[in-house]
Amino acid sequence: MEMTPYQLANNTPLTLSPNFILPEDKRPNLSEVLPSDSIPIIDLNDHDIDDGQGPSPLVSKISQACEEYGFFQIINHEVPRELCQKVLAVVTEFFQLPPEERAQYLTKDHSKQVKVFNYYQKYEGIGKVTMWSETFSHPWHPTENFTHLLPTNPPQYREVFAEYARAIGVLFDRLLSLISRGLGLDKDCLKRRIGEKPGLHTIANYYPACPDPELTMGLPDHNDLGSIAVLLQVEGVTGLQVIKDGKWLTVDPVPDAFVINLADQTQFRSAGHRAVANKLLPRLSLGMFYTPNNDTVIGPIEDLIDEEHPPKYRRYSFKEHMEEFYRQEGRRRRVKEAFELQR
Ligand code: OGA
Ligand code: NI
Repeated sequence: MEMTPYQLANNTPLTLSPNFILPEDKRPNLSEVLPSDSIPIIDLNDHDIDDGQGPSPLVSKISQACEEYGFFQIINHEVPRELCQKVLAVVTEFFQLPPEERAQYLTKDHSKQVKVFNYYQKYEGIGKVTMWSETFSHPWHPTENFTHLLPTNPPQYREVFAEYARAIGVLFDRLLSLISRGLGLDKDCLKRRIGEKPGLHTIANYYPACPDPELTMGLPDHNDLGSIAVLLQVEGVTGLQVIKDGKWLTVDPVPDAFVINLADQTQFRSAGHRAVANKLLPRLSLGMFYTPNNDTVIGPIEDLIDEEHPPKYRRYSFKEHMEEFYRQEGRRRRVKEAFELQR
């Protein structure tokens, strides 16, 4: 089947030309990927009474999933299905705008909050390989008005996103309190620790259909850097994979579910994950990230430390951590944004 290639915002057609083909040992090796019956699916309607008599069944399930996987799906989360469908539709429309319209968000300035970019990786002797995706990133906020930062095209983008952000804000509060209780802490503890002004950003990844997903990668293996992410993926299109005990598992979309992903700063397991392209259909994922701000001091929570449980980490500010991270291993773990490909 002939496909018209997707046109990246920098006006490059996304094709299986050498710029987009991975060296053999970096390819996804899809025949080795296991189906994922094992990623927990947690029903937020599960029995949850906070009676001070130890964790409720829901809290136990969440804390077990946090500990074992750092990755799980939630259903019955009370974010309306229609709203999820609407936000996916409007973000898809954004990626389907003419490239010159998306190009206004290309930037070389890393501090820009609203931007379109393409991930790439650099390989010795080969140079740069651009990933099979395009990414749009911008801030969000559950209560403040942030929508003046967002595109006016598609016309419903701002309104739909504002509504979605409010709903996700409520969900984050609930998740942080469930996770806090799972740690035996009071329910506001994690939220308080992450800080008054968390960094809140959205990362929307669009993965056009790919004639041969074996040759490319949508988003290479990485761990998220912040604390927690709520990911919405379009139904019926696979692509997300998570590594567990050295094996890649698919995280297939479950209808009306969110994927919850704990990132480095929660000090649970932060699971390596990646996304591969789909042969037949474009795929969209929309991640809402909740990150400590630069001044937040991150360190072991005092209530969890005693003689038998000495701290495993020292205290540091998030900014300090990020600087050290980029010095040491940022290049290995977080793929770079392909600024050079831009006009
Ligand atoms: C991310 C991410 C997964 C996906 O943006 O950090 O892991 O399915 N996205 O696009
Ligand atoms: Ni990620």
